[in-house]
Amino acid sequence: MRRIAIFASGRGSNAVNIIKYFSCGDRGAAVALVICNNPKAEVTERCRSLGVHVEVLSRADINSPEVMCPLLEKHEVDLIVLAGFLQMLPPFLTGRFAGNIVNIHPSLLPRFGGKGMYGRHVHEAVVAAGESETGITVHLVNDKYDDGRILFQASVAVAPGDTAADVEHKVHLLEKAHFPRVIAATFCRGESSES
Ligand code: GAR
Repeated sequence: MRRIAIFASGRGSNAVNIIKYFSCGDRGAAVALVICNNPKAEVTERCRSLGVHVEVLSRADINSPEVMCPLLEKHEVDLIVLAGFLQMLPPFLTGRFAGNIVNIHPSLLPRFGGKGMYGRHVHEAVVAAGESETGITVHLVNDKYDDGRILFQASVAVAPGDTAADVEHKVHLLEKAHFPRVIAATFCRGESSES
């Protein structure tokens, strides 16, 4: 059974969806805890109300091996899932969990990735560029922005006249449909993964 730590900073729709997906207990993983770097983020209460342990940590805490290593060991975490987490992971985490950190990005990487490209900013850039499609990318995480091996992509049409909010809604539906399933298929079926 894999033990997942979800890292999240925002509304938490992906975190909630992943918690619910694995809560049945027979999909090869369980969410052990949620780590949030924003005390005001909706994700904290949403996950607590599902009975999941939530830690709200400062940027400095997340960058500290003395804080993070005992915490992740205590919860026996062996898989990190970034679900709208807006802080670069420190090298001691990308090194220690190499091949076992997965992120979802709300575009078809390498399009609309990199520093500053997150959440609504991505969808605004997609609309401004006049793209006819966008999508999601699930990828392994290394120590560069949006750079690790791509595990899965799915696309959706951007209609003429779509706003960034319209695009965001379409992308969230793709995330909901695919992200937990891709985590299970990649990490919880006895398959090995490497960065
Ligand atoms: C999601 O759309 C996710 O793909 C995106 O943030 C949103 C978080 O929503 N991640 C990034 O932009 C990472 N660069 P949520 O908090 O409701 O899951």
